[in-house]
Amino acid sequence: MFSKILVAIDGSESAKKAFTYAIYLASISKCRLDVIHVVACEFGGDSDASFELVEDLKIKADSMLEQYKNEALEKGIQPIFMMEIGNPANMITEIANSKDYDLVVLGTRGMSTFKELFLGSVSTKVIHHAKCPVMVVRG
Ligand SMILES: Nc1ncnc2c1ncn2[C@@H]1O[C@H](COP(=O)(O)OP(=O)(O)OP(=O)(O)O)[C@@H](O)[C@H]1O
Ligand SMILES: [Mg+2]
Repeated sequence: MFSKILVAIDGSESAKKAFTYAIYLASISKCRLDVIHVVACEFGGDSDASFELVEDLKIKADSMLEQYKNEALEKGIQPIFMMEIGNPANMITEIANSKDYDLVVLGTRGMSTFKELFLGSVSTKVIHHAKCPVMVVRG
């Protein structure tokens, strides 16, 4: 069915549902599953404050990825985890387009508290710019 799936997670309930779907699709396709988390960092500069903030976010992200790893292992899947720093939508699109994925899985919404729209900006941008099919899981 699929040969290489990418799922994007940000710590939200919606992404968690997307991850569960991605595990299911990878297991029925018997294919590779890669997981990406982007530590959102829009600012340039190299002040101590920004460095500490990113380091702190990376530590939090590591423990989140560990939990996801355990869930996958319980279901017999060993995903490859990637942590990147930058603009989430751009980074996810860039990786999806440069590494031959045949499906990207995302949640409809993420960590934002502003829930007026049905789709968040990251899922919207990835749908617009990814070259492969994108599955958006309602959460
Ligand atoms: N930093 C991130 N790293 C990896 N995946 C992400 C990241 N941010 C969002 N995603 C993916 O995109 C999906 C939708 O999140 P999105 O950020 O678009 O919505 P939101 O947080 O509700 O709104 P917005 O960020 O536009 O204010 C998430 O469920 C997740 O799959
Ligand atoms: Mg978001």
